[in-house]
Amino acid sequence: MVDPSMIVGAAEYTIRPARPEDADPIAQIHVATWKQTYRDLIPPQAMVAANLAHRLEMWRGLLTIESLDKGYCAFVAESHAHALSGFVLVGPQRSERAAFADYPGEIMALYVMKDAQGRGLGRRLLSAGANELLAMGLDRASAWVLSANANARGFYERMGGREIATQTETRHGGVPLEEVAYGIDDLGAIVASTRG
Ligand SMILES: CC(C)(COP(=O)(O)OP(=O)(O)OC[C@H]1O[C@@H](n2cnc3c(N)ncnc32)[C@H](O)[C@@H]1OP(=O)(O)O)[C@@H](O)C(=O)NCCC(=O)NCCS
Repeated sequence: MVDPSMIVGAAEYTIRPARPEDADPIAQIHVATWKQTYRDLIPPQAMVAANLAHRLEMWRGLLTIESLDKGYCAFVAESHAHALSGFVLVGPQRSERAAFADYPGEIMALYVMKDAQGRGLGRRLLSAGANELLAMGLDRASAWVLSANANARGFYERMGGREIATQTETRHGGVPLEEVAYGIDDLGAIVASTRG
């Protein structure tokens, strides 16, 4: 049975498009949640990726007109007290690998702060991103997840995702880390699931 307090908690948040002035709080959520999520999953030397200056630069660049023109789109979860607790970034598929040919959209990042997880915000953020991808004519999407990130894998599987590819990346401090890509065939179902 659904715990009613969870529903009330999630309803305290609004999902809205990210604005340029959200760049700094989004970068802070990105780094803090990244550290909390990965510190027990990856070697310490790979944690260099949790660099706030790098994320600030990235998000200040992403939330610009030029970036929007390329089809990138971000949404945030904002509490009634105007604090941000999560974000999603979606856009056109970056991979040219054959496994992604049927997935013209991509969920590039989805982060909900630890204390706000498990209340439906991940689903609502993903739904906002999915809705935007569909509006752009991108009817299916993929998402990369660290293979060791069992929590996110469970989430994407619950969202209808199925494994379509793997890769080993060394961009985090030169440490090889395996990632798995999930393909989501029915973005409309995710959008429908959050419509009251
Ligand atoms: C993964 C993440 C985005 C999920 O967000 P969340 O707000 O905790 O998830 P929700 O509460 O919206 O869960 C939505 C549904 O997925 C289910 N779910 C969530 N995690 C699950 C898991 N590990 N296994 C199975 N189901 C899961 C929930 O039970 C819920 O199901 P329901 O809507 O049918 O009741 C969030 O935990 C997070 O930000 N983690 C850290 C960062 C990260 O790993 N990001 C993903 C990689 S980029």
